[in-house]
Amino acid sequence: MKTSILMPVVRQVLNQLHNDARANDPRVFETVSRQGLKQGTQEYYQAMREAYLPVDPQFGNLLYSMARALRAKTIVEFGTSFGISTIYLASALKDEGSGKLITTEFVPEKAERARKNLSDAELESFVEFRVGDALQTLKESLPQTVDFLFLDGPKNLYLDVLKLIEPRLRAGTLIVSDNTDQPDLASFLEYLRTPSHGYLSSALLTESHGRQTGHEVTLRIG
Ligand SMILES: C[S@@+](CC[C@H](N)C(=O)[O-])C[C@H]1O[C@@H](n2cnc3c(N)ncnc32)[C@H](O)[C@@H]1O
Repeated sequence: MKTSILMPVVRQVLNQLHNDARANDPRVFETVSRQGLKQGTQEYYQAMREAYLPVDPQFGNLLYSMARALRAKTIVEFGTSFGISTIYLASALKDEGSGKLITTEFVPEKAERARKNLSDAELESFVEFRVGDALQTLKESLPQTVDFLFLDGPKNLYLDVLKLIEPRLRAGTLIVSDNTDQPDLASFLEYLRTPSHGYLSSALLTESHGRQTGHEVTLRIG
């Protein structure tokens, strides 16, 4: 069976980006933490414009696997950054033969670099890039139904973005949320974990380079 993420054209781009992120992000974190900006604000993400902030490779593989197993054709991603998670998700579309991933990023320079990375991985044709605040860019021109929603932007916006996309979800859609161990997510997680809201939700913990990260994997059930 063909698997794009193991093929050289994609693997080389992913390896390079993961290595660059490991070498680069600690320095950016250190510089930005000295500025005392509140995490999640627009000023914070502007200051962090050189940070990759990527999913780790293990979780990237899981994103690919979930999208592929679901045979997703329509994917929405909140938080593109330099496009690492986008590459895993777009690979699943490519291996299914078709589909569209709409991804949105607030910082224009990051979206441009993501576009180049997706082009280097020969996946650009599966991706539509939307630049700006997700609450605006995802307001309209969405597919009738969304098969897979990946939330990886500022945590305080997860619930608002979910509510924006909610009318497009179908029974069987997966909503995958990253960094759910971070603050600001209590009301979002409570919303997903209240069965009357139409979701079946599970917490997931992954470990990479000695660091644990929380995620939430949520099935739309009705
Ligand atoms: C954790 S990073 C995304 C990492 C990416 N998914 C990956 O794995 O490579 C979050 C991104 O969300 C972007 N962002 C911040 N506020 C946003 C907003 N209101 N709308 C869309 N993107 C936003 C940030 O600039 C940042 O690049």
